[in-house]
Amino acid sequence: MANLQSDFIGIRSPNPFWLASAPPTDKEYNVRRAFEAGWGGVVWKTLGSEGPPVVNVNGPRYGAIWGADRRLLGLNNIELITDRPLEVNLREIKSVKRDYPDRALVISLMVPCDEDSWKDILARIEDTEADGVELNFGCPHGMAERGMGSAVGQVPEYIEMVTRWVKTHSRMPCIVKLTPNVTDIRKPAEAAKRGGADAVSLINTINSITGVDIDAFAPMPMIDGKGTHGGYCGPAVKPIALNMVAEIARNPETHGLPISGIGGVTTWRDAVEFMLLGAGNVQVCTAVMTYGFRIVEEMISGLSDYMDAKGFETTADLVGRAVPNVTDWQYLNLNYVTKAQIDQDLCIKCGRCYAACEDTSHQAIAMSPDRTFSVKDEECVACNLCVDVCPVENCITMRELPKGAVDPRTGRTVGDYANWLSHPNNPSVREAAE
Ligand SMILES: Cc1cc2nc3c(=O)[nH]c(=O)nc-3n(C[C@H](O)[C@H](O)[C@H](O)COP(=O)(O)O)c2cc1C
Repeated sequence: MANLQSDFIGIRSPNPFWLASAPPTDKEYNVRRAFEAGWGGVVWKTLGSEGPPVVNVNGPRYGAIWGADRRLLGLNNIELITDRPLEVNLREIKSVKRDYPDRALVISLMVPCDEDSWKDILARIEDTEADGVELNFGCPHGMAERGMGSAVGQVPEYIEMVTRWVKTHSRMPCIVKLTPNVTDIRKPAEAAKRGGADAVSLINTINSITGVDIDAFAPMPMIDGKGTHGGYCGPAVKPIALNMVAEIARNPETHGLPISGIGGVTTWRDAVEFMLLGAGNVQVCTAVMTYGFRIVEEMISGLSDYMDAKGFETTADLVGRAVPNVTDWQYLNLNYVTKAQIDQDLCIKCGRCYAACEDTSHQAIAMSPDRTFSVKDEECVACNLCVDVCPVENCITMRELPKGAVDPRTGRTVGDYANWLSHPNNPSVREAAE
């Protein structure tokens, strides 16, 4: 049986599934129920320093994007950090940690950008015996306008400075949570490492407007006729998060820096994808807000079955396994040739593949008078659009031409691509030239 025990920067948890800092982790009642359901750890909803109370809007805080089946694909929020008193949160954290010593309990923090504010709150967090802190340099709305959250996360120098304060004034492991609202995610991660961070976590939410009320002429969610941008998360953001995790994992400057993967994790498979790209564990928010705490059961059994099937004994065995296969475009093998093929038994004759290819791509699908669709190998460039638009899973697949076959489109023999061996894109040619 696979061992799901996780050790992330010295913080141990019975599995690598943590809840991300958000409403599900905003209070003792929730966190206790999450632990009872089986979550390995939580990052407590972001705490701020004592001061003027945090006040949320009283209109809708969330907006959403749905699939055709009304499945929630993307969630947008304009919520602030916790609006519950610091004292109450600290008391609850202490009580939960005492009762669940085997679970990871990390506290998310966001305080003004001065050293004393960080020093003060860190001392109070240490009193709770929580396992570590996560620095929220990510939330893009409400607090950013006050010089916190993503306003810090977008300036590498600030990230480095605050992280260094935290490491100076605390012995706790420190995770720096990054905002995706930057052009190059490697820079903030490098800054976190320079500041002494033990790990980075990503992604926080993406700046977004999920829709516009076309009668009221205002963005949604709408508060008394006005709206503002919010933070986007959920399954829709997973591809962006995966790419950012991979970028950090394969950057020599941050090589070995532990990563906590966040963004659209809904199933065990999503978690495995993040871990293969270098995440030591994952955090989940939207999926539990949609389906409840019990989804962790399926995550645990799915990961366990996957690890057994692959012969992985510990979660560390799979972390980063896909990173060496993430490369730059110029290293892709131009000598690899595939063609689309249509399974006539599965085809429902809808003609989407034909319309897409005929109107917008390479005119590589033929339609007979009885609406039988077939691929013209001599035109197919293997773009995959027909696979992507086909409503029937596995009806259209890509078939690899064997070595020695002639590509009817180019007339070249596969495996003997005329230019490939001497092509400047070929890695061995590039390496020889360097
Ligand atoms: C309603 C809501 C509130 C959130 N509040 C916080 C927060 O206080 N601190 C924080 O670091 N991230 C916060 N987040 C971001 C999540 O922790 C997480 O980074 C993001 O939702 C992406 O994960 P997901 O796709 O699994 O939801 C919040 C997200 C949502 C939806």
